[in-house]
Amino acid sequence: MAREYELKPAPSQASVDTGDASSHLNRRQFLRYGFNTAAGVLTASLGVLGFASILLPPGGSSGGDLAVKFWAKGREDSAWYGAQHLQPMTKDSFVKEAASSSTGTSGASGVWNGVPVVVNYVAHSKNAGTPESNGKARFQFTEGIDETGKYVGHFDDLAEQDPRLMPSEDLVMVFGRCTHLCCIPGWQLVSNSFTEDSWTPGGGDDGGTKMFCICHSSRFDPTVLEMNTNRNRSNGSTFKYAGIRRAGGPAPVGLPIIPISLNGDVIEGLPDYLDWYTYCD
Ligand code: FES
Repeated sequence: MAREYELKPAPSQASVDTGDASSHLNRRQFLRYGFNTAAGVLTASLGVLGFASILLPPGGSSGGDLAVKFWAKGREDSAWYGAQHLQPMTKDSFVKEAASSSTGTSGASGVWNGVPVVVNYVAHSKNAGTPESNGKARFQFTEGIDETGKYVGHFDDLAEQDPRLMPSEDLVMVFGRCTHLCCIPGWQLVSNSFTEDSWTPGGGDDGGTKMFCICHSSRFDPTVLEMNTNRNRSNGSTFKYAGIRRAGGPAPVGLPIIPISLNGDVIEGLPDYLDWYTYCD
């Protein structure tokens, strides 16, 4: 019988709906969900340094670097970007990887300015004019509701104020800490040999192109961009943000976007919305 790995239940949420992800995973499912030991290493370093202390504007007095780098430590042999660990991310690498995906998507874990990020490419420009029923992924821009079901606003409202929040060259980058308990979990990403390569519209909890938090099974849809709200953990203030939608699991809301731009073919993050990443520290 295949070895099984036990997922930790969310505190006080042991009975929370975890969809088709049971509390035990066999090895194949474990690998499919993209857990990597490097996540633990990164978590430990963040714990030592303190999140706020490393979230400094790149290019400023910290001597930071705007470029987003691949992060594949521990997955050098399994991730499609395994040979590019700590090399700058380029759009071309995502486009090439997406060419082997039936949905036209690709994703990778990364590090930007010392914080964990996830970058997803969606062949939106190519697919947006085609029928949704063909399973070709495209971005959807929607309204958002908070964890109580209250209407928050529409992604377009924020994007009109700052167009840089729109996907750049069909790429979108999000902060890589789960909104549930701030895991840096090693995300399920398309496409790789362990992940179902399928897409459905609407941001629901079906389709395979989800980011999956291994810690307590939260799912996020990187193709659905919405407005939502969260809380600064240090001072309790609330803020609205542009993010990707939570599709299921105990996470209360989706993950915030980090706007990007391309410098030639290199993906660079823009440090304009640091407040959005304060829900963990
Ligand atoms: S930290 Fe609990 S689901 Fe991600």
